Parts: sequence; C-alpha cells; structure tokens
Amino acid sequence: MTVPNVTLNNGVEMPQLGYGVFQVPNDETEAAVTAALEAGYRSIDTAKLYGNEEGVGAALARSGIARDELFVTTKLWNDDQGYDSALRAFDASLSRLGLEYLDLYLIHWPTPERGRYVDTWRAFEKLLADGRVRAVGVSNFQPDHLRRVIDETGTVPAVNQVELHPYLTQEAVRAADAGHGIATEAWSPLAKGGDLLAEEAVTAVASRHGRTPAQVVLRWHLQLGNVVIPKSVTPSRIRENIEIFDFELSDEDVAALSELDRGLRTGPDPDAFN
Ligand SMILES: NC(=O)c1ccc[n+]([C@@H]2O[C@H](COP(=O)([O-])OP(=O)(O)OC[C@H]3O[C@@H](n4cnc5c(N)ncnc54)[C@H](OP(=O)(O)O)[C@@H]3O)[C@@H](O)[C@H]2O)c1
Repeated sequence: MTVPNVTLNNGVEMPQLGYGVFQVPNDETEAAVTAALEAGYRSIDTAKLYGNEEGVGAALARSGIARDELFVTTKLWNDDQGYDSALRAFDASLSRLGLEYLDLYLIHWPTPERGRYVDTWRAFEKLLADGRVRAVGVSNFQPDHLRRVIDETGTVPAVNQVELHPYLTQEAVRAADAGHGIATEAWSPLAKGGDLLAEEAVTAVASRHGRTPAQVVLRWHLQLGNVVIPKSVTPSRIRENIEIFDFELSDEDVAALSELDRGLRTGPDPDAFN
C-alpha cells in the first residue's frame, strides 16, 4: 500500500501513517521496525524516553532503503528541556539513531512547571536553521502552550502530536492546531487497543465494511485529517494497520465513532505532567 503524505506548514511532506515504537524493548525494536518497513511503512516514531533509538537506527541501516524515502521522528525528553541541553540531547539522539539529519524533532511534553519550553523551542529553531532537522514540532501541547511559543518566537510548530482516538477526540486542540496551520498527529490512535476495539459502534462499522475494528478506527483518523502512528509488535497487525487506503467511511460512520468521545485519557494530563 502507498501511504499518502500530508504537507507540513514548511512544505515538508510527511506520511499520514507511521509506525510507533513506544514500549518496544530496544533488543526487539530492530525486528519490529524491519517488519514495518517490509509492510510498507516509511515513517517511524520513537523518542529518547523509549530507549530504543539504537534499535530503530539498526533497522533503518539494514533495510537499504534510501534515506530520503524515510521519515524519522524522535522526541526531546523532559529532563533535557532548556536551550543548551536541548542541543546536546538532539546530538545524542541523532547519534543513537545513526543518522546525519532528522525529519521531525518534537518537544515530548510542555512540562509547564519547568517553564522551559520556550527556551527549548529556540534551540529547535536553531536546529532547523542549521539544516539538522527538516521540521520541528511539539507533543502534548494545549492551545495556550501553542500560543505562547508562537507569540514569543514567531515560529509555528509543524506538528502537534497528542493523545487522540474516538474516546478522546480533542476538538479544542484540533481546532487550535488547524487555526495555526499545525498538523495534528494522533498518539495511541487505537486507545492502546483495549476496550475501544470491542465497542459496538466500532464493530458495527467494521462488519459493514468487511474490515477489522482497528482498520476502521485508523480510517476515522485519516478522514479527520490526522496523522496516525499505531504501534504493534505483531506482524499480522502491522500489516493490517497499513491496509486502510482502499476503503472509505461514510459521514455517518465517522460521526458514530466520534460519538464515543468521553474525554478519556490513557496517558497523563499535559497541564499537570512535569
Ligand atoms: N507523544 C507522546 O507522549 C506519546 C505517548 C504515547 C504514545 N506515543 C506514540 O504513539 C504510538 C502509538 O501509541 P500506543 O503504542 O500507546 O498505542 P496504540 O497504537 O493506540 O495501541 C497499541 C496497542 O494496540 C495493539 N494493537 C495494534 N494494532 C492492533 C490491531 N490491528 N488489532 C488489535 N490490537 C492492536 C498493540 O498490540 P501488539 O503490539 O501486542 O500487537 C498494542 O497493545 C507509540 O508507539 C508512540 O510512538 C506518543
């Protein structure tokens, strides 16, 4: 399957579907990412926190796929917030990945209590200006955090990666992102694969389309315009999750999944997490 791109606000093209490796142990990551690359994924989402940047890099190197066909994202961890520490953290991540440049670098969490995300963002501006990264963005930023970095630096993030799935549709964040021209990327797009995939609203849409629950949830994201990065270490699911570009949900199907919204987070609240 060919994955369509979205065009970020600086003109860089990013695949609308990527492969996430949260909680994949480093020594299992090379095999998992290799399976994803074989299935056709070209965008990989990791983070310093995940401890598996080396495993990602090993799979990329072994794949023989041209660097410019790949889209690699990693994230700056909270302890590395600040201007100089962010520059050092970037160098260390790039070296663990074995890459000469990165496609997308994200501030993992705003951690408002630390009060450093604007300084960190200034380091990201430098990395971008120096050509070390093709696009810079943020993760878990609420609308007021977005406004602050934009007001104080004038540089608009290319991406805001947030928890987003039918239990947490994030209308306010999606509207703020769209208002600034920021692409919304959904983490835990399957709500971690638990109860959501057994919801009757989901299984009914799935059986109507002859698809799996995960496929219709991922399709819901695509039709809302979200970038998605489902994680699986199961080869059959890795393939299943990319086979979503040859069918379409009706407006009613999309609405039925959106109605599952109950503001349910599987992860921390960005305003409180430090
Ligand atoms: N920025 C952030 O703060 C942040 C936070 C969390 C996650 N993320 C990123 O988002 C990515 C995805 O989020 P996530 O890993 O938390 O959750 P997710 O992708 O919503 O769900 C992953 C879970 O769903 C299962 N699964 C995957 N495909 C399935 C399918 N087709 N049918 C049934 N079950 C399926 C997986 O099981 P198996 O693996 O056992 O197959 C795994 O347990 C992460 O890997 C990471 O890259 C970012």
